[in-house]
Amino acid sequence: MAAVAMSPARAVPPEGAASTSASASASVSASASASASGSSSENPADWGPQGRVLPPSMDATNSCVTCHATLTDQKLRAPAKEFVTSVHRDDRIGCAGCHHGDPRDPTVGAHKSEGFLPHPTHAEVPGVCGSCHSDAGFMRHLNSRLPVGQAALYNLSLHGKLTAAGDENAPACADCHGKHDILGPSSPKSPVNRANVSTLCGGCHGDGKRMAKYGLRTDQASKWEKSVHGQAFKRGNPNAPTCTGCHGAHAATPPEASSVGRACGRCHEEELAYFDMGPHSKGFRKRGLAECVACHSNHDVQPASSLMVGTTPDATCMKCHSKDEKPRKIADEIAGLLRGARGRAAEARAFVARAREEGLHVAGASFALDQIATAELKLRGVVHTLDPARLEGPVAAVDKAVAEARKLVDDAAQTRRVERRGYYVSLGIACVLFASLALKSLQLDRRRRGRS
Ligand code: HEC
Ligand code: HEC
Ligand code: HEC
Ligand code: HEC
Ligand code: HEC
Ligand code: HEC
Ligand code: HEC
Ligand code: HEC
Ligand code: HEC
Repeated sequence: MAAVAMSPARAVPPEGAASTSASASASVSASASASASGSSSENPADWGPQGRVLPPSMDATNSCVTCHATLTDQKLRAPAKEFVTSVHRDDRIGCAGCHHGDPRDPTVGAHKSEGFLPHPTHAEVPGVCGSCHSDAGFMRHLNSRLPVGQAALYNLSLHGKLTAAGDENAPACADCHGKHDILGPSSPKSPVNRANVSTLCGGCHGDGKRMAKYGLRTDQASKWEKSVHGQAFKRGNPNAPTCTGCHGAHAATPPEASSVGRACGRCHEEELAYFDMGPHSKGFRKRGLAECVACHSNHDVQPASSLMVGTTPDATCMKCHSKDEKPRKIADEIAGLLRGARGRAAEARAFVARAREEGLHVAGASFALDQIATAELKLRGVVHTLDPARLEGPVAAVDKAVAEARKLVDDAAQTRRVERRGYYVSLGIACVLFASLALKSLQLDRRRRGRS
């Protein structure tokens, strides 16, 4: 890449900028020697992406902004207005960071310097952005926490490949981020903010006209919205995936069939681990079936239902195994184990609820119910091994928690019986006492009357 060093000789330094000019001039040679020796200079003036020498901070000398902000043509003025609140407003980036030109020339001569790029084409944009964002040495000096490598990932993606080939239907960096008003993803106003991602991606992927020539479906966003993930996102669950949760932001390619499990497994680790223990892991790979997606789908993932396992016509297993003897037998066996454990768990919930309705104070019942729920959850995960023997442990755990809950209710009922017995006994004693008192007062009364 050509170094876009500004020629201080040609620049017309504004008032008081003589020292700026001198240091910029000095930095040209400093930077040249720094890059020759491969070490980075401590002089901020030398931090240029890929050998580019950027001027030091120069509020008074960013003539691009100063002049463009005064132009009457809206198209020429707007960039200057938007830029000053964007993430690139730092003067060491400036307009020249993307367009080049000489930011110290207060005349339209600023446009004349070598490399001036007034209209980066759609295909040129990734190179423009990447010239800084792929340069770890440069980025480190301006924001050391910002990851680099977006352009490298993007170039590998289908979006990147199509853009490089001149297809303007595919997004270049600026189609997702904007150009003069770029903000960090954490800003709610950024189109790439988590809250806006499905609208951003769905804007193109739901557009039938744009997608027609690729033969792609256009229902990803509408399906996602109704899925468990979209619903959880709407409820504010910070872990629910939007489009980028599964596709990534810059390598937006569909996961290969054999790596779908890794994409889902980023969040559903346990299910993936159990899946890997079962026969499907190898079997699916052999046949190019998409791991988790074969049963749960990708965009319209629904709550896992108890109807999924079994040999009823709706059961997921029957999509592939309607005639396979061993899988059918195992599907029935697993369905039976699940049904049994869930039935007992449901009963336990019901009798705890009944006991509470009757006003019994069941100490520790909430804890026992939580334990039942945890054991059931574990059971659902282990289903992915497709191994009935492995389900026995979690089934036993459900039963243990159910027995615990039943014991707590029985104990509470027993306590109440003891309390009631105690109550009647004391009531009896009170009655006897009362009766004898009444008798005594009657006798006293009679005696008093007999005396008078
Ligand atoms: C003295 C005022 C002035 C300065 C300084 C100036 N510009 Fe301009 N710029 C203009 C005017 C006027 C136009 C439109 C006419 C033209 O293309 O010359 C323009 C055009 C442009 C365009 C092309 C817009 C289009 O639609 O053709 C870009 C991009 C641009 N300037 C960027 C810059 C950058 C970057 C700098 C600083 C390195 C800069 N300008 C400095 C006045 C200025
Ligand atoms: C982060 C990179 C970046 C920065 C920084 C940047 N621009 Fe641009 N600019 C672009 C891109 C990309 C385009 C779009 C080119 C196109 O679509 O023709 C553009 C287009 C323009 C245009 C043409 C008008 C238009 O909307 O198409 C003008 C004028 C312009 N820029 C001026 C400026 C000025 C002035 C600054 C500084 C205040 C600036 N730019 C900073 C990337 C940048
Ligand atoms: C001249 C170098 C340069 C160019 C060219 C450039 N950037 Fe940047 N960009 C930066 C620097 C430096 C930062 C960090 C600024 C900061 O944090 O203060 C940044 C920040 C960002 C951020 C915010 C990141 C965050 O998490 O805060 C985004 C998004 C971004 N740039 C996108 C782009 C896009 C898209 C383009 C091309 C249209 C582009 N950049 C061109 C240097 C550049
Ligand atoms: C298809 C849309 C899309 C395209 C194209 C795109 N980005 Fe992004 N970019 C995003 C999203 C979404 C995020 C937010 C990532 C997140 O929240 O995890 C992001 C985040 C970023 C960030 C912030 C740091 C980070 O990695 O999270 C930078 C910098 C960035 N992009 C630069 C670029 C550059 C440079 C290009 C072009 C080479 C580009 N982006 C192309 C959607 C896009
Ligand atoms: C500017 C429009 C546009 C935007 C924005 C956009 N895409 Fe795309 N995307 C396309 C086009 C066009 C293709 C290429 C279709 C093809 O060749 O099959 C594509 C391809 C894809 C593919 C690969 C499909 C395949 O056939 O293999 C995935 C996955 C994808 N995009 C996801 C996303 C995600 C996720 C986002 C948001 C972060 C996004 N896209 C934003 C236009 C867009
Ligand atoms: C839960 C993970 C997940 C989420 C969330 C997700 N996708 Fe996908 N997407 C996938 C998988 C997996 C595939 C590949 C399907 C396959 O191989 O069978 C895919 C395929 C695609 C394709 C290729 C065409 C197709 O429909 O098969 C596009 C385009 C796409 N997704 C866009 C999006 C967009 C846009 C969003 C957000 C609205 C999104 N995806 C959200 C997992 C996800
Ligand atoms: C052969 C079909 C099948 C495949 C393949 C499959 N699942 Fe499941 N999944 C099920 C069944 C059946 C259930 C339990 C339904 C029930 O509750 O009775 C389930 C339940 C789940 C649940 C909810 C239960 C829980 O543990 O929270 C998640 C999450 C899940 N699967 C994720 C995955 C992931 C991730 C993959 C890929 C690694 C995957 N599944 C592969 C059939 C499948
Ligand atoms: C970024 C994290 C993330 C990724 C990636 C992800 N999920 Fe999820 N998934 C979640 C969260 C969070 C929930 C819980 C939603 C809720 O609160 O109900 C969930 C719920 C589910 C459920 C429903 C569980 C139930 O209790 O019924 C299934 C099934 C599921 N995901 C399957 C998948 C599949 C298949 C993939 C890959 C194509 C995938 N997930 C990718 C985070 C993720
Ligand atoms: C998308 C198709 C598909 C679905 C849905 C599916 N399977 Fe499979 N299953 C396969 C494939 C492929 C194999 C591997 C067969 C082979 O290698 O010969 C397999 C193998 C098995 C095996 C091992 C058989 C053996 O001979 O050792 C069992 C058990 C099994 N599946 C049970 C189930 C159950 C239970 C369900 C429902 C929860 C289910 N499968 C859903 C495709 C599927």
